[in-house]
Amino acid sequence: MSDSISTRPMTRREAIAAAAAFGAALAWPARFQYPPTLAWRERRDAYPQGVASGDPQPDGMILWTRRPPTRGTTARRLRVEVALDQEFQRPYAIANATMSAESDWTCRVLVAGLQPSRPYWYRFIDEHGFGSRIGRTLTAPSSDDPRTIRFAFVSCQNVQQGACNAYRRMIWEDARGAPDDQLDFVLHLGDFVYEVVWYPPDRPRGMYARRLRDIVRYPHGEKHGDFHVPTTLADYRALYRAYLLDPDLQDARARWPFVCVPDNHEFSWKGWQSQENFGTGTIPAQTRKVAANQAWFEYQPARVARPGDPADDRFQPPRVADAPLLEFDENGLGREPGNLAAVGSLTVHRSQRWGRNVELILTDNRSFRSEPLSNRPETAAFRPTDFPAVVSEDVTEVLDAGRAMNDGQPPPTIRFGGKEVPNPRVTAAPQSMLGAAQKAWFLGRLGAATAPWKLWGNSVAMLDWRTDFQNLPRALGPRWPTTGYALFGDDDWSGYRHERREILEFIRQRGITGIATICGDRHAFLAGVLSSSLPPKAFEPVAVEFVTGSISAPGLFEAMQYTVPRKHPLRPVYVYDPVYDPSTREPAQPAINVSIMHGVRASLALQRTGHLESAIAASNPEVAPHLSFVDAGGHGYAVVRADPDELAVEFVCIPRPINRAGRANGGPIAYRVTHCVRQWRSGEAPRIERTDVEGQLPLVE
Ligand SMILES: [Fe+2]
Repeated sequence: MSDSISTRPMTRREAIAAAAAFGAALAWPARFQYPPTLAWRERRDAYPQGVASGDPQPDGMILWTRRPPTRGTTARRLRVEVALDQEFQRPYAIANATMSAESDWTCRVLVAGLQPSRPYWYRFIDEHGFGSRIGRTLTAPSSDDPRTIRFAFVSCQNVQQGACNAYRRMIWEDARGAPDDQLDFVLHLGDFVYEVVWYPPDRPRGMYARRLRDIVRYPHGEKHGDFHVPTTLADYRALYRAYLLDPDLQDARARWPFVCVPDNHEFSWKGWQSQENFGTGTIPAQTRKVAANQAWFEYQPARVARPGDPADDRFQPPRVADAPLLEFDENGLGREPGNLAAVGSLTVHRSQRWGRNVELILTDNRSFRSEPLSNRPETAAFRPTDFPAVVSEDVTEVLDAGRAMNDGQPPPTIRFGGKEVPNPRVTAAPQSMLGAAQKAWFLGRLGAATAPWKLWGNSVAMLDWRTDFQNLPRALGPRWPTTGYALFGDDDWSGYRHERREILEFIRQRGITGIATICGDRHAFLAGVLSSSLPPKAFEPVAVEFVTGSISAPGLFEAMQYTVPRKHPLRPVYVYDPVYDPSTREPAQPAINVSIMHGVRASLALQRTGHLESAIAASNPEVAPHLSFVDAGGHGYAVVRADPDELAVEFVCIPRPINRAGRANGGPIAYRVTHCVRQWRSGEAPRIERTDVEGQLPLVE
């Protein structure tokens, strides 16, 4: 849908139309006590992917399950029951839905007519009397409800490479929390699945120090190097089916409603629009984008629009062919009709009021973005190859802005590695992350939102994470090729700086306050304030950002720990290796946290002295005036609490989830840290304050 979701309760007629639009059957409160017509018995084996609910509103949500043919029984009809109690003594709504192989035996039901801000329980029953597990869900508060809004946000669950201990911990804590401190929903910011799959025999040594789980073999698929990627609808469906067998993920979906947006891996690792890239050039993949969207639609209970006949509750894939994108509009959107049909086959961006205090705005950061700089062959000359995992901030600024650089006066050459290299993007349009249509919608929502907190579910982060390789001591060897800072990657908003500036300028000029962007993707915890530029340029924060660590996918610290050799002169910038002492066996630590907060001289001092205080004494205060916290080695989840005056975000960090904890509490906590932001006035800069710490922060002062 292209507008804010109304929080007025739907009439029955509206609910019927909405159910059709979202491809779901409708459940509505029963006027009479209905008789239990079927003998119900729980048969979880008949529902191997469990149950789920999603996109709650004050009067309902979408319920989901999958009931495939199993052990000789095929079900084509499901009855769903919604009750006020877990024992189903107080049934409230009921509906019938049909299923078929055409939607991979998944089932979506829109429930309407419920009461705001309360839990409900639901279950599915087939015509043989086989029942699903019982799911719990919650309705959203109505828009005049002043209560605190509480939710968790998560991203990046790689079930092949790690365990979902974070969900187990979240469930354990929520079940023990006071009723008014329990979560209202879980916001999933993408990488719900990882389409890049290593079949264990192809990589017997595993990934870093992790073993690879044999979770899926694609029916079709394609091999690139030593990994496999999906190529058909059957492949993407197989991936979701495999992921949803994870018991911790399944229990989380059965406990809370999820609000989901896809990020890149729901389609393709380096995907943009309908194109893929596995490091050897662009691969047209319109058919795969449609397949990825269809599988997402079938497996995520979300209120997202898709084209086609609204009376037909299936995803109706547009006919497309894989074709190169040769012509682009002013925002980098490929005009090829199949590309437009593929990226238009699902409308992910949406917005919703949560009580009086929160407007949640969700965007799609992958389907409309112009080709990332790091994919483009013309930018290859600007890669600082001696420096792991970074690009140059100054060069990225010029390449991203293209002809719009310096108010339309882009430099004809860029100084890099001691040479003047021709600027390959001197006539190119600036890059766009959101695309023109979605950006107009997004800015419109931001400008119109009246809730005190405008929370942007922004799958990829905006905060620059950088370090000062320009200050590297000469004696160390490697020569940084520019005079400015190094950025850790350019695949997120730090590589789409021109449009980031446009959005932050819009916020500043309109004097909009209370904006926090809520992100995933980086596999790191970060908290900070957002400014269009950083020292040595102006530093003028206008919004705040919180980024959650991954549920399980490896982060930058872990990657550097296992790929930057012990003798590499820059290893101490990324990894602190305590001097080996057999009595303590102290593990490697994320020196990268120190490099991002304080610069490279600080992390070098840390390796030399072994003391964080000595490191901080060597701090460059200009590296990160915008950051309050960074941990590039942390995993877990984050919890938001939004009151009218204050936004508090708690990062719950767990140890690296290599193995399933196998305990009811999901295993221990590494640390917990809370940052708060008071509501600020127009013209004031927001400030982040650390209010609570439990456990030992990893090389963070
Ligand atoms: Fe990820």
